[in-house]
Amino acid sequence: MSTPSNASSLIGQLTLEEKASLCLGSDFWHTAPVERLGIAAIMVSDGPHGLRTQPEDADHVGISGSVPATCFPTASALASSWDPELVQRVGAALGREARAQGVAVVLGPGINIKRSPLCGRNFEYFSEDPALSGVLGAAMIDGVQSQGVGTSLKHYAANNQETDRLRVSAEVDERTLREIYLAGFERAVTEAGPWTVMCAYNKVNGVYASEHAWLLTTVLRGEWGFDGLVVSDWGAVHDRVAALAAGLDLEMPPNLGVSDAAILTAVRSGQLDEHVLDTAVARVLQLVDRAAANTEPPPVLDPDAHHMLARAAATECAVLLKNQDRLLPLRPAAGDIIAVIGEFARTPRYQGAGSSQVNPTRVDVALDELRSAVPDQVEIAFAAGYGIGTTDRDEQLGDEAVALASRAEVVVAFLGLPAADESEGFDRTHMDLPASQTALLSRLADANPNLAVVLANGSAVRLSEWEQHAKAVLECWLSGQGAGGAAANLLLGTANPSGRLAETLPLRLEDTPSYLNFPGEAGQVRYGEGIFVGYRGYDALDRQVHYPFGHGLSYTSFDYADLSANVTGRPQDGDLVVNITCRVTNTGDHRGKEVVQLYVGDPEASVARPVRELKAFAKVDLDPGETTAVAFTLTARDLSYWSTRLHDWALEGGEFELAVGASSRDLRLTTTLDIAAPPPPARLDGMSTLQEWLADPTGSTLLHTAVGTDETGRPKGILGSEELMVVIGNFPISTLAGFAGFGLTHSIVHTLVDQISARDG
Ligand code: BGC
Repeated sequence: MSTPSNASSLIGQLTLEEKASLCLGSDFWHTAPVERLGIAAIMVSDGPHGLRTQPEDADHVGISGSVPATCFPTASALASSWDPELVQRVGAALGREARAQGVAVVLGPGINIKRSPLCGRNFEYFSEDPALSGVLGAAMIDGVQSQGVGTSLKHYAANNQETDRLRVSAEVDERTLREIYLAGFERAVTEAGPWTVMCAYNKVNGVYASEHAWLLTTVLRGEWGFDGLVVSDWGAVHDRVAALAAGLDLEMPPNLGVSDAAILTAVRSGQLDEHVLDTAVARVLQLVDRAAANTEPPPVLDPDAHHMLARAAATECAVLLKNQDRLLPLRPAAGDIIAVIGEFARTPRYQGAGSSQVNPTRVDVALDELRSAVPDQVEIAFAAGYGIGTTDRDEQLGDEAVALASRAEVVVAFLGLPAADESEGFDRTHMDLPASQTALLSRLADANPNLAVVLANGSAVRLSEWEQHAKAVLECWLSGQGAGGAAANLLLGTANPSGRLAETLPLRLEDTPSYLNFPGEAGQVRYGEGIFVGYRGYDALDRQVHYPFGHGLSYTSFDYADLSANVTGRPQDGDLVVNITCRVTNTGDHRGKEVVQLYVGDPEASVARPVRELKAFAKVDLDPGETTAVAFTLTARDLSYWSTRLHDWALEGGEFELAVGASSRDLRLTTTLDIAAPPPPARLDGMSTLQEWLADPTGSTLLHTAVGTDETGRPKGILGSEELMVVIGNFPISTLAGFAGFGLTHSIVHTLVDQISARDG
């Protein structure tokens, strides 16, 4: 086999057949080797929150029976930590496990936006917000790649549903793509440099992502400078030659004998330039070299240490949604009974189904963890309350649970979604917990009002039907193999909840901004809500939500003070920087972590803009009484929108609103910022309206000069009539050129367009 890092130098020695073979894997999980030249095959493996390495003798499609690996919290949980440093550490552990298992590339992270709470893979994705998704995606990439193992940033792009995922066309306008669906990818690519990017299954505006030259080449490589390899999602290639030409380097799994033959025929017939093939081959060889560059022996793993990391991570992810009467943390006295109710306390649900499913090294069970954590004189009594996947015995189980609840001091009900309710491969049709669980909850509350709920679910559930029965709700998401230990620590106050919602919890499914356009029909899904996804939509519509984006309680409390913002540099010089600081104090009596969130709004813009958008955040850890300064830096990009006229980011000068707070609807301090910026260049042409020409200082001067003035100095033609201008100011000037008496002719318009084009270049 090859000595490390020399595969790239062998490209000149490859035959055409060998080159074609390298653009496909050799099997489900390996790239193709070229044994004659000592070019090794490398192994890739799922991803994203634990490894799913299939043993050599497995069927390679199956999702069970993989080599045991640590199951870390899934992405929806990890995102709720709002902690890039933690995500980086989880990534590094994943990288170590990958090295130990001989895996060169981990197939993750997945950073698709949660457009609808119904998406079956929401548990594998971080957030409804591109800034949070991008920061955490970059942290995960950094962590994995710090171990000399690659990542595959997926699924690029606009893969936001499972319904018809292999064929559906996501119909998304340019601005929405840029601001919402591409922004997270852009950040992760430019900041963390993943070794590979995985294209999505779906079409984007009618073109398969695997054949989308604009996505795979123009934007990804041309604009963002991506220098790695583009791999297909498993089975996403429909026309290997078109995909190669668009920028898709590696097809997985390989369509052997078909795709390689198609490449050969296309090159031999001249349909495909051999340089295109060479470029893709060079990227495959570069990946082989990158994998071989780490010549350290594989690490010896410490599964216990990784388990403890999984557990610590799960602790950081849980979001305390509600804590009436400070029911939590539990403070059991000698002789107390804590009623632990719910099959999930004994049979935990901690990960989602599909290609991300991990065979865990071990699993914490909340019931056992609680039992071993409380003093001997406290009894943890258990009743299943409901069955998972069966309803036959629910009534009897419910009666037993209610009887237990009525003799306990406090009740902790472990509820959540059964595995069959959410998975890769299909979307949900509702957001509800099983009726057996909600019915049980109301009976438990009648029996004992001191009731806390612990939730296990990968995607958001509706709380409005049942939350009134619980004094406290702890949302644990699908937190991996350490979920049970984390829940016990949080319930008993050994740990203080510090997770915050990475997605809005709506009152009803019908309130969600994508509701009328999800999951589409007849092969198309229209992203009709545009940029108003998640909290951007709820805020624009001023719609009540159950819990807002960014929300999460703590056993302590925090105060915000001294917000200040100062601007240096100028947008036109490319060095605009806004430095923001504030101070946060822990005003309670527990040590705790606060997630300080910075939102920006542009209330007077020429385009529709969200009321506020998350632009930065910081998680701070404070002792009681301790104060810390928090600093953020924004650049022009953070204040800009994507202009569909300029096909570029545009910053409009004027007033911006800055707010720091504990959630998108708990803004503690606000200030305004005055940004002086030249108006974005107008790019005027004959179809630009009279108003648009007049709004541009150069355009206006040129127009006035061309139309001229009468002897009194008053503008001639249309420019002399303010009344008329109100009525037909929105006519293109080339249309006005056809109207006699307006002072414009087609030849004047041509001259004007030439003059302004010379300025705009
Ligand atoms: C999934 C990917 C996964 C791949 C390999 C596909 O079905 O969409 O996320 O990495 O399979 O298992």
